[in-house]
Amino acid sequence: MADFLLVTDLDQTLVGDDTALIILNELLQKKRREYDIKIVYSTGRSLELYDQLNQEKYLLSPDALITSVGTEIYFNPIKDNFDLQWANQVSENWDREAVFSVASHFADLVLQPLSEQTPFKVSYYLSENIAQEVIPRLKADLAREKLETQVIYSASYTLDILPKNGGKGAAVQYLRGKWNLSADKTVVCGDSGNDITLFQGEERGIIVGNAKSELLQWYYNHKTPFRYLAKQHCAKGILEGLNHFGFITT
Ligand code: GLC
Ligand code: MG
Repeated sequence: MADFLLVTDLDQTLVGDDTALIILNELLQKKRREYDIKIVYSTGRSLELYDQLNQEKYLLSPDALITSVGTEIYFNPIKDNFDLQWANQVSENWDREAVFSVASHFADLVLQPLSEQTPFKVSYYLSENIAQEVIPRLKADLAREKLETQVIYSASYTLDILPKNGGKGAAVQYLRGKWNLSADKTVVCGDSGNDITLFQGEERGIIVGNAKSELLQWYYNHKTPFRYLAKQHCAKGILEGLNHFGFITT
């Protein structure tokens, strides 16, 4: 047992099994009294949809919140602490209007609700059966317009276009730098495509047992001892992984 930073995705990673969520939360609460454990939620949701989830589920109050697929960061207390420095970094070379205009030529891309169209993220739904044909064309059109972006397909139905400096992984690197925490004291957890960048560094990685095909495929192609595929699902999988890496012993 030692000090560490826990970074976790919310939907279908931390949240998804209410009983397991309560057990994990109680354990973390207890350990937090003895050790310096920082908790960061890293979600694809906008702040608005995060607030909604926070009302529906029992979530601990995080030290920082990464929203909209790593394009915004808030520090505790969340309401008053939007991180402008991160926003400045993310906004570099990002032309939202131009990105939106390229994407709107694709009839197969169905716009997500307005709450999910945030300053540094443009989001659509895209059917799985045409995704492999549409995504390369979209990327080529963005490149032709010299728009440096990241196109992220998750859970076989959502597609996000982000600035090249954004993303969950980059946001975690930024926080680690700010807090001066090493990779071996950091553990990241996720279940789907928008979590892949979380695992691209040398942090300890927990992929929950219910992970989606795109993340599983990535994991099998990038195996190292510091990435762990749990057998159990959601918060139970996180607990299994924390034990595996020795961050906790239960
Ligand atoms: C969350 C967001 C959505 C995004 C998805 C995948 O569900 O609300 O906008 O497309 O995560 O990143
Ligand atoms: Mg998820």
